Amino acid sequence: TNKIAVFASGTGSNFDAIMNAIDEGTLDAEVSLLASDRINAAVIEKAQQRNVDTVVLNPKSFTDKAAFETALLADCQSRNVEWIILAGYMRLIGPTVLNAYPKRIINIHPSLLPAFQGKDAIGQALDKKVKVTGVTVHFVDNGMDTGPIIAQEALSITEDDTKDEVRRKIQAVEHQLYPRVIQTLLTKENAK
Ligand code: GAR
Repeated sequence: TNKIAVFASGTGSNFDAIMNAIDEGTLDAEVSLLASDRINAAVIEKAQQRNVDTVVLNPKSFTDKAAFETALLADCQSRNVEWIILAGYMRLIGPTVLNAYPKRIINIHPSLLPAFQGKDAIGQALDKKVKVTGVTVHFVDNGMDTGPIIAQEALSITEDDTKDEVRRKIQAVEHQLYPRVIQTLLTKENAK
C-alpha cells in the first residue's frame, strides 16, 4: 500500500473520489496527508471528517516560495509520502518539491491538454466554442499543465450546455478516471 499526499485548494470532489475508491478497494493506497494552500478550502473539512491528517499552509506567511515548499515537503517526508497527487491544487509546483519527487507528482486538469492550460480551462473551452473537451491526467513538470500525459478522456459539449453542465460532465469523468489512473500507475511502478 503506497502512501500518497493529496494537494488541493478547492472543493475536494476529486479528493472524495480518491477516498471512496480506497474505501471500495479499487485503489490500493493510503492518503497520509491532505495539504491545502487555502485556509477556507472546503476540502479541509472533508479531510478532517475522514480523519485524514491535514495541513494548511498559507504561502503568504512564508518569506518566499522556496520556504513555503520546504515546509510542505517536510510534511510529506515526515509521513513517508511516496506520491503527490494534485487534485484542484491551483499553484505551480516549484523546484523544491519537484526535485524531491521526480516523476512522482501527478495532476488532473479539466481539458484535453495541451489545449486550455492554466486557470478556468472550462471557461476557455466554452469561449472557443469547442465541441469536444475532456480531462487529462499528467505528470507534473516545471511548466503550467505541460508535463507528459498519462491519460485522457474526451466528452462532448452540446449547443445548449451551460458552464455548470459542462463542469458537471467534466467532474463526473474526473471522479472515475483519476482513481483508476492512480491505481494503474502505482501498480506499474511497484512492478518495476
Ligand atoms: C477539478 O475539476 C480539476 O480538474 C481542476 O480543479 C477542479 C477541482 O475540483 N484543476 C485545475 O483546474 C488545475 N489546473 P475539486 O476541488 O472538486 O476536486
